Amino acid sequence: MIKKLSIAILLFISFAFYKIEYSEKKKSLKLEREPYLQTVFADSATISWKTNIISKVSLKYGESKLEMKSVDGKVVDKHVNILNEVVLKGLKPNTKYFYEIYNNDSLMAGGDSYYFISSVKAKSKEKFSFYAMGDIGQPKAKGGFPDITANQINKLETRPDFGIGLGDIVYPIGESKKYDAYFYEPMAPILRNIPFYPALGNHDWYSDPDENFKREWKLPNNEHYYTFSYGNSFFIALDSREGGFYKFRKQKAWLEKTLKENQGKYDWIFVYLHHNGKTCSYKKDYKHVMKLYDVFAENNIDFVLNGHAHTYERLRPYDKNGNILTKYSDDEKYPEIENGFISITAGAGGKLKTPWTPDPSNQKNCKDGDIVSKFYHKGHFTTFEIVGKKLVFKGIDSETGEVFDTFTMEK
Ligand SMILES: [Fe+2]
Repeated sequence: MIKKLSIAILLFISFAFYKIEYSEKKKSLKLEREPYLQTVFADSATISWKTNIISKVSLKYGESKLEMKSVDGKVVDKHVNILNEVVLKGLKPNTKYFYEIYNNDSLMAGGDSYYFISSVKAKSKEKFSFYAMGDIGQPKAKGGFPDITANQINKLETRPDFGIGLGDIVYPIGESKKYDAYFYEPMAPILRNIPFYPALGNHDWYSDPDENFKREWKLPNNEHYYTFSYGNSFFIALDSREGGFYKFRKQKAWLEKTLKENQGKYDWIFVYLHHNGKTCSYKKDYKHVMKLYDVFAENNIDFVLNGHAHTYERLRPYDKNGNILTKYSDDEKYPEIENGFISITAGAGGKLKTPWTPDPSNQKNCKDGDIVSKFYHKGHFTTFEIVGKKLVFKGIDSETGEVFDTFTMEK
């Protein structure tokens, strides 16, 4: 009898401990990815973060931290990540909002650096800036430095209103499971208050983008190629895949239609994609990109930005055949480029090609002659500041913050 009773007591105690442990596990909610801004437009914004367990999702936001209203969110993806997402609507344009995120009514993150600024009104001529860089998510152990670049962007005197990613967002093969360690953690200080719009690179294509890249982002259109606008500027992201554009004919037709529909509506048009066209870097000239030069040159596109080569290279203005427009001889001060565009490689956001030394003679005289305005071989990012029809460009060293290249364009 005593033996039976002892067994029963033991079983009861074990069960009680199991229950406590189970409920503790259930309670130990953890933030696995800091909140990051997805799309932020003039009247709406989407904020995401990742937790270890599924829970009730909500967010408080307001122009002042003392007066915030609460909005419920949802869990959007349970495949690899538990992503919490809140969509805010009815925002005022060009307004700073603080936010705090909650799971099961517990505060998970909030404070001075958790905010977003809704876009300026469409077509407004208000001043704004953005950063652009490619080739980012390389781990530190393999010589990567996305944290150093993010840190320098964080220190900029003028905080960019958004960032664009020129492909190869996460090495080596763009897997969802590497996003936290290789991209979101090092970039967290800027992603929480500067939205980021990436394009797909060849490395992002080594894993199925529909199962990886697209799970991490919430971009316009089909997320492979898309557009968005900010004030008086129009941005077009293309998917240059590898060895040929993703659904080339369809994408090109979409590009032409989009450009036709928006012709004359904006002061500035930017195209960004991963692969370079003509280059003097260690990468080859990608013919599939050069096939679109006529579309770029004939549709008032001002800049074509790319990554892929882990170095920096600003080319002189081209025409549709890729021939240098020699009349634009002052490469620090440009007027509007007619029937041409400027192509820039900014491909060392988190990864630099080493060992490799650019050859100055080669840089200035490769293949078709003097095509390079400026090259630089260190970790970097670029910024564009726009006020109406005036643009100031800067190439900035990730480590030192030195402005190694700059020019203006005024239309
Ligand atoms: Fe690449």
